[in-house]
Amino acid sequence: MSADAVKLMKQQVGKAAADRVQSGSIVGLGTGSTTAFAIQFLGDRIKSGELTNIKGIPTSFQASVLAKQYGIPLTTLDEIDHIDIAIDGADEVDPQKQLIKGGGAAHTREKVVDGLAELFIVVVDQSKLVSQLGSTFPVPVEVLPMAVTPVTRTLEKMGGQPELRMGIKKDGPVITDQGNMVLDVTFSNITNPAELEKVLNNIPGVLENGIFVDLADIILVGEIHDGQPTIREL
Ligand code: 5RP
Repeated sequence: MSADAVKLMKQQVGKAAADRVQSGSIVGLGTGSTTAFAIQFLGDRIKSGELTNIKGIPTSFQASVLAKQYGIPLTTLDEIDHIDIAIDGADEVDPQKQLIKGGGAAHTREKVVDGLAELFIVVVDQSKLVSQLGSTFPVPVEVLPMAVTPVTRTLEKMGGQPELRMGIKKDGPVITDQGNMVLDVTFSNITNPAELEKVLNNIPGVLENGIFVDLADIILVGEIHDGQPTIREL
């Protein structure tokens, strides 16, 4: 599929999610290229006066920069007692709506924000749908820098193949918004995502991993049919 077609799917699915936000809502703002379109369309709706009294909770520096650029007022978890709706992308979605996230190394904050939302909408293009988690994407694991070596050994003993995520246009490892590192772990067969999520988070030095179980409410999938973008709900 061409890069233009993928961009079109992301744009349309981002818009479809932004269209579901109502005035007066506190909105979790996810991270990634698909959510970036949702943030942009949300800003457009605020600018046109169609949406009022919106507050955003960003899941990353990227989300807060985009929110400021598109005129979405921000707040923090200290100032609110609920989140009405969160919009976020994913790297894999299985038929049970379980996710792998963290392609942008933002999964730790994303799990906090998306998990608090009364309605969590996931925005993906069709390439993200898999029959089993781990088929196309490794599990991102955020690790304290001083614990990278022992956590790597533990993950290898569990049968995983961890790889330290390296920066692009920056020498050395990716450093998360919290100042940690990310191990991308390939597992040959993830039969029980809920169990793996818990086991990974129980390793000392691990902050959070990218397996999201029972959090997603709605999956919006952007597809291209006969050259035209369409949106379907999983
Ligand atoms: C960031 C994420 C993203 O939502 C995920 O990587 C999908 O990104 P994109 O929409 O660019 O494909 O989890 O940590």
